[in-house]
Amino acid sequence: MTVVLSGIQSSGRLHLGNYFGAIRQHVALQQEPGEHLYFIADYHALTSSRDPAELRDNAREVALTYLALGLDPARATLFRQSDVPEVCELAWLLACVTSMGLLERAHSYKDKVAKGLKPNVGLFTYPVLMAADILAYGSTVVPVGKDQQQHVEMTQDIAQSFNHLYGPCLTVPQPRIPSEEHLAKVPGVDGEKMSKSYGNSIWIFEEGKLLKNAVNRITTDSRPPEEPKDPSSVLLLRFLELFLPADEFAQWCERVRAGGAGAPGYGHLKLRLIEAIEATFGPARARRKHLLENPAEVERVLAEGGTHARAQARATVDRCYRACGLR
Ligand code: ADP
Ligand code: TRP
Repeated sequence: MTVVLSGIQSSGRLHLGNYFGAIRQHVALQQEPGEHLYFIADYHALTSSRDPAELRDNAREVALTYLALGLDPARATLFRQSDVPEVCELAWLLACVTSMGLLERAHSYKDKVAKGLKPNVGLFTYPVLMAADILAYGSTVVPVGKDQQQHVEMTQDIAQSFNHLYGPCLTVPQPRIPSEEHLAKVPGVDGEKMSKSYGNSIWIFEEGKLLKNAVNRITTDSRPPEEPKDPSSVLLLRFLELFLPADEFAQWCERVRAGGAGAPGYGHLKLRLIEAIEATFGPARARRKHLLENPAEVERVLAEGGTHARAQARATVDRCYRACGLR
């Protein structure tokens, strides 16, 4: 059976990169046959969060975001990672078959250290806990953005090591990455990969003046509108590509390329982008507000999801305990 699973770390408000790289696929995939599990990676958020209230709020924000954007609890199980403590038990079993070398090769860890982050042991072993998340439910498909691909490949290695030593206990999953580059790696307002930790993101539900300010931060240059430009050199177009129908997008590119009196200035592109963001996320923004006023509804979904997920994880952990000689 197909088991689709993914998670998002609850370390802040979710941005356009999270939507186009991950959440949009998650919401679309729930229509396909099979089991669907999505979770809020709050244990993972603890590798960098030090504020208890903020950790709780961020977890709720991820739940609100998923539900507002159309995740349907009747089709998909939504739960908090920490409601399934079994993943920590499984992570230990997996850690004992994982080489230091495998973890030392993790790009995400190396990038964070290179950016000056002082690593804790949790950050170093992050991929092992992520492997436990994936393997606990027998996941077959893991839809994530490009930056998480290596983590899913490490999960494959770890599952194979465990199975090689103890017999076929764990299902080896496949990553599913958006095939189009502009979705797999959404740029931030500075043109680098959009990320919560780089301060270059645009929140999915931003509105009004704050949305305008966010769009105004997208880097432009001083070339005048009439100067013909290579569309790939205009960051605003990379944003518009995410929102506009292909034919309309092609027309904007053509006008930018041609230059002259009819060419749009950066101000025009910004206005069109704001309109497109409003139209895409307006209805979801209203649903988020409704959910904010009904916290019990959100809690109920998470509690039911947690109970369902936990039973599955327990069965996997028990099987692995028996296989490795702990029972
Ligand atoms: P962040 O880098 O902001 O901390 P996460 O690592 O929590 O984001 O990512 C959550 C999900 O969103 C993952 O599946 C990830 O691949 C996807 N994602 C994050 N940033 C981007 C981006 N800029 N473009 C495409 N997908 C992204
Ligand atoms: N590392 C993912 C992120 O940064 C979150 C995550 C944790 C995850 N466990 C996972 C994603 C398991 C997919 C599958 O958002």
